[in-house]
Amino acid sequence: MDVMNRPDNMERITTEAQAKAFIEEQIALLRAQIGGSKVLLALSGGVDSSVVAALLIKAVGQQLTCVHVNHGLLRKGEPEQVIEVFRNQMNANLIYVDAVDRFLDKLAGVADPETKRKIIGKEFIDVFAEEARKLDDTKFLAQGTIWPDILESEGGIKAHHNAGGLPDDLHFELVEPVRILFKDEVRVVGKALGLPDSMVYRQPFPGPGLGVRCVGAITRDRLEAVRESDAILREEFANAGLAGKVWQYFTIVPDFKTVGVKNGKRVDEWPVVMRAVNTRDAMSATVEELPWELMKKITARITAEVKGVNRVLVDITPKPCGTIEWE
Ligand code: XMP
Repeated sequence: MDVMNRPDNMERITTEAQAKAFIEEQIALLRAQIGGSKVLLALSGGVDSSVVAALLIKAVGQQLTCVHVNHGLLRKGEPEQVIEVFRNQMNANLIYVDAVDRFLDKLAGVADPETKRKIIGKEFIDVFAEEARKLDDTKFLAQGTIWPDILESEGGIKAHHNAGGLPDDLHFELVEPVRILFKDEVRVVGKALGLPDSMVYRQPFPGPGLGVRCVGAITRDRLEAVRESDAILREEFANAGLAGKVWQYFTIVPDFKTVGVKNGKRVDEWPVVMRAVNTRDAMSATVEELPWELMKKITARITAEVKGVNRVLVDITPKPCGTIEWE
């Protein structure tokens, strides 16, 4: 089978049996490609890199080294889940890099969204390259490239976000076991590999993470307000049966304060904005009409439980003209 291109007549993988057949085929291909060599993978905990990790663990076990970089902009519980699933349950060779201070120190005082994105992207490459240089005789770099990435980079819509970026002294051959799959197929394969639903059906999450939801210059306290309010929102969406039904839902904390009153005292605190949208391709989006009772419950919990927050607002702007993220 051609591993570089999706065959025109390839059936869409929708069943466990199809996924298992794909997994067996890939394991054989991976073993043939990799032989006795070592492989490196940046494991974010997102669906694509998690499925690639699980496939490679099955195919070559300890020849794979996964590097999980915690840049401080991940959602609550994510780094812990990566360690639990891959190190504890799958016995993967996992290097966990706590780079939180490094990223947040570099981002201190930077308010411009594009500059924030560039700092996060560059720092990520630097941290990953440092880890890669520590590992001798690693021949391959695994990536969670999927078929839409290839189509979009060929069509000139976006630069292929996975390929390249590493410094010139690091030469790897690429291993891309989910390259010919669409996103929905990656999820079916992930489920068949035994990954938890919370990983397989994870909502889309931007590379710069919570950094794009902590508007303006990121401070540690306001970043915590984003992380904690996001965790409450996700928990209440799950309780209300909306997880997996709404395409993307999250909170934003802008960098201004308003007056409120708590325990009979005046408080100057941030507002939290909640946003829930549905879309097919993220090029346009409609707003989910949330039940009033759910919004009241989330507001009560966020204002009571999240430090530094005295209001909750709802963004009901479709895309266009509002983008999904606030940046
Ligand atoms: P916007 O805000 O442009 O977002 O309407 C469209 C979708 O893309 C996600 N997004 C990203 N995804 N890397 C990603 O993988 C990124 O840098 C990035 N920025 C935005 C966003 O969450 C939404 O789903």
